[in-house]
Amino acid sequence: METDFDFSGKVALITGAGRGIGKGIALRLAGHGADLVINDFKPETAEQTAHEVCTMGREAIAVGGDVSQSEQVDGIVDRAVKHFGHIDILVNNAGISLYRPILDCTEEDWDRHVDIMAKGTFLCMRRVAPLMIERQWGRIVNLGSYVAQMNCTTKYFGPYCAAKFAIIGLTQVAAQEWAPYVLVNAVGPGDVETEMMELEWQQEGTRRSIPAEDVKEEYRRRLILERLEKPDDIAKVVAFLCSPFADQITGAHVIVSGGLPYHH
Ligand SMILES: NC(=O)c1ccc[n+]([C@@H]2O[C@H](COP(=O)([O-])OP(=O)(O)OC[C@H]3O[C@@H](n4cnc5c(N)ncnc54)[C@H](O)[C@@H]3O)[C@@H](O)[C@H]2O)c1
Repeated sequence: METDFDFSGKVALITGAGRGIGKGIALRLAGHGADLVINDFKPETAEQTAHEVCTMGREAIAVGGDVSQSEQVDGIVDRAVKHFGHIDILVNNAGISLYRPILDCTEEDWDRHVDIMAKGTFLCMRRVAPLMIERQWGRIVNLGSYVAQMNCTTKYFGPYCAAKFAIIGLTQVAAQEWAPYVLVNAVGPGDVETEMMELEWQQEGTRRSIPAEDVKEEYRRRLILERLEKPDDIAKVVAFLCSPFADQITGAHVIVSGGLPYHH
């Protein structure tokens, strides 16, 4: 009987892992024995995460690149395969967010969200899944969000919510097409204390003329568990989804939100 899981010998590619949730996932998977390919749009942050993984005794390479550009995705995957020979786990985490009413959003705002999150997830999966299918084993986890559920969207995040719904749709189709060897799931965080969320709290605070700290406290109080999440809260569920404990889970969107939506 399995009593623990160990990713020794497995290689995980994580996009947008220079900071925040992606970095948390990298450190968690390394803790379970995986070797890592750390991608980020900002190469210096990818280098820093890779360095921290190496200090844990695992092997890691940093590969800069923009996941919304197919040639750059090819370059990231080629580097990974050249170095490690294979990719077993892919986590499509790179993302952006913008607090802006739909009527104020530009075409560029729309394109950036859909390109980085929906298209980026498509490009990375399309490039990596064939390698997994050939080896008859693979785990893909895409970053959804609690907002990518019917009636859970939040105003002022139009392009963001649209891109996250696209990721969930793509996750469900990919799960069907690449079964039984490649399991494809999404994890949907609630409010995780990262630079992305700190900026959103600041922007909401400015609009409502209240301090960002007060907005943050409201967000905390609306949770059933009354604790804002840390990157490792999400990383633990990503590790679970890549582990033998989740061998019968595919096409799922696992919400990890501390109990959202919840209204007092
Ligand atoms: N923080 C939250 O509460 C929360 C909630 C739900 C979903 N998410 C999702 O989790 C993921 C990570 O969020 P986070 O809070 O850690 O954000 P973050 O802004 O702290 O980190 C995102 C990382 O992605 C990188 N990135 C951005 N565009 C990229 C691109 N084109 N190519 C490669 N890398 C790129 C950034 O440089 C950054 O390092 C995102 O997909 C986000 O939408 C976050």
